[in-house]
Amino acid sequence: KRCAVLISGGGSNMMTLVGDMTGDHPARPVLVLSNRPDAGGLAKAAALGIPTAVVDHRDFPKDREAFEAELNAVLERGDPDIICLAGFMRVLTPVFVDRWAGRILNIHPSLLPKYPGLNTHARAIQAGDKEAGCSVHEVTDVLDGGPILGQARVPILEGDTSETLAARVLIEEHRLYPAVLRRFAEGDRRPIVLSTAAESPIN
Ligand code: GRF
Repeated sequence: KRCAVLISGGGSNMMTLVGDMTGDHPARPVLVLSNRPDAGGLAKAAALGIPTAVVDHRDFPKDREAFEAELNAVLERGDPDIICLAGFMRVLTPVFVDRWAGRILNIHPSLLPKYPGLNTHARAIQAGDKEAGCSVHEVTDVLDGGPILGQARVPILEGDTSETLAARVLIEEHRLYPAVLRRFAEGDRRPIVLSTAAESPIN
């Protein structure tokens, strides 16, 4: 299976996905694509010999369709079976999502359906939640709303800031996303919940 990874920043999630796509893993990374030319993840991917590309959304002011048309053109060259959004910070229109329906995954730093959108950690702390976490879901027309394929939970501790909580969640993101991608690439869409021990399928 050919996997493209879309990033906007440092690409730590992309690096864990790429690092796991080896050996008997049914997928291989064929492209790392960013909407930001200065995304730190681009150099990391290039250093691993993975083809990279940039489609700068600022070249398409107020024209989301044109941006996505260029995104599609570049993606189609990579001919991906699976697209992983990993710290990708652009909202994709239903046109794009329908074009790649059933093949796009995203990681979101909250226990969906709680806290779709931005500032998830601050909102969880503000709400007095006892736990937070991350979710990998299939991307559909509903922002952060598609079928959940995996979740990992962390405690919210006394004195947590959104930074300390984000750091704790990011560790779980790096465990969860590769685990979900591996199953998804094998055609298994049963959701998993990562416990501190190992994966346990939600029965
Ligand atoms: C992470 O906090 C993740 O939750 C969100 O984007 C942030 C940066 O991810 N999706 P990365 O280091 O660029 O993978």
